[in-house]
Amino acid sequence: MKYYTAFENISGFLYSNGVNLVELARREGTPLLVTSEKRLIENYNSIYENFTKNYNKFKINYAVKANSNPAILSIFKDLGSGADTASPGEIFIANYSGFSNDDIIFTPNFSSREVLREVLGMGIKINFDDIGQFEYVKDIRPGTVSFRINPGMGGGEFPGIVTGGHETKFGIPEDYAIKAYRIAKESGAREFGIHMHGGSNNLKEEYFKEITSKFFSIAKKIEDEVGIEFSFVDIGGGFGVPYRENERPLDMERVANYVVENFKVLAGKNEPVLMVEPGRYLVADSTVLLGKVTYIKNYGKRIVGTDVGMNILIRPALYGAYHRIAVANRLDAEEKDAVNIVGQICENTDKIAENRKFPEVEPDDIIAIFNAGAYVYSMSSNYNGFTRPEEILITRDGNTVVIRERENYGDLVAKAKKWKTK
Ligand code: LLP
Repeated sequence: MKYYTAFENISGFLYSNGVNLVELARREGTPLLVTSEKRLIENYNSIYENFTKNYNKFKINYAVKANSNPAILSIFKDLGSGADTASPGEIFIANYSGFSNDDIIFTPNFSSREVLREVLGMGIKINFDDIGQFEYVKDIRPGTVSFRINPGMGGGEFPGIVTGGHETKFGIPEDYAIKAYRIAKESGAREFGIHMHGGSNNLKEEYFKEITSKFFSIAKKIEDEVGIEFSFVDIGGGFGVPYRENERPLDMERVANYVVENFKVLAGKNEPVLMVEPGRYLVADSTVLLGKVTYIKNYGKRIVGTDVGMNILIRPALYGAYHRIAVANRLDAEEKDAVNIVGQICENTDKIAENRKFPEVEPDDIIAIFNAGAYVYSMSSNYNGFTRPEEILITRDGNTVVIRERENYGDLVAKAKKWKTK
């Protein structure tokens, strides 16, 4: 059985960077998220090195929504990343993690007038999601204006994570893009950017070729017809990672070659900064979610109950997403019949895997759910009164550090007020 890059099988036990994750789970308790700093760095470098090989005015803005743990944000900051944010709350987290406002970009949708004005007042660049969104702040005369353009196409693993194309709520359709930049220019904008994000978890290199070709040609047309030059061009995120055993990793070198080749239509005299906004690619495979088998029911089909429910990992219930799962203390055990692996939530959608070939297990075995670095903790909740897990970082030199404490019951009522009827 093969293991994802940051994790290895040593005598049947799961390890990362020299740390026995079964012992760690027993010591710290479950559920537990464990992140490899080494893998975060490798992922960042894979994008950075492949793109800058061909074009050096290149910037990565990490999409905070994928995983907003401040320690993880500061690791990316130290590597030279900026931060892409979707809400004032994410801006707060980025500031808290050490990003200055210069290094933050704001890509909201359906934002309120108050929020847009406040964020602009902080000196943060905005990718406006529509012409009217820019008009909310026009009187403040933002120096830099960038619009999110919907390139009329998109791509993603599930319909729910496609954000480009005519069926989505995002961005300005191509036919209205020129008008948007004319209005911005007439309002006194001096610097321009352009943005798109077509969807998430794309594993085909050709997708990036196709969508950037479309997007850059729209951008070129805007430059020519409005008489402006872009100082930055942001192609969003969407770089996929393999979740299933038979999927192969994205060839980042090919992606970068396609994108930079297409970018030549724009990279003329003014050499705009080429930006990307990856979330998943940087964090997903750096992290494993460790849980514990709590109880097994067997009336025909085995149902393996665990302490990892949809309150922590909502992706299977929300999109039908697949996550690889192994038994961290029995990696060499033979996989037997197909089981359902579930949590303790009172919802029948609370299944983290269905019909999954799985070894024999017993209560207290430790399960490991892979690709838990992206859209796991950041989408978790306290549903059914369960607390959010602890997060641990395995540093590049193999030390384990708690980067977020486990919530306690007090946290469940921390903002509530007691109410007495008499
Ligand atoms: N930039 C913008 C404007 C975005 O909306 C997103 C993701 C990203 C960047 C980062 O995309 P990535 O590189 O991670 O694909 N919750 C879903 C994913 C939704 C992504 C939404 N936007 C999931 O669990 O799969």
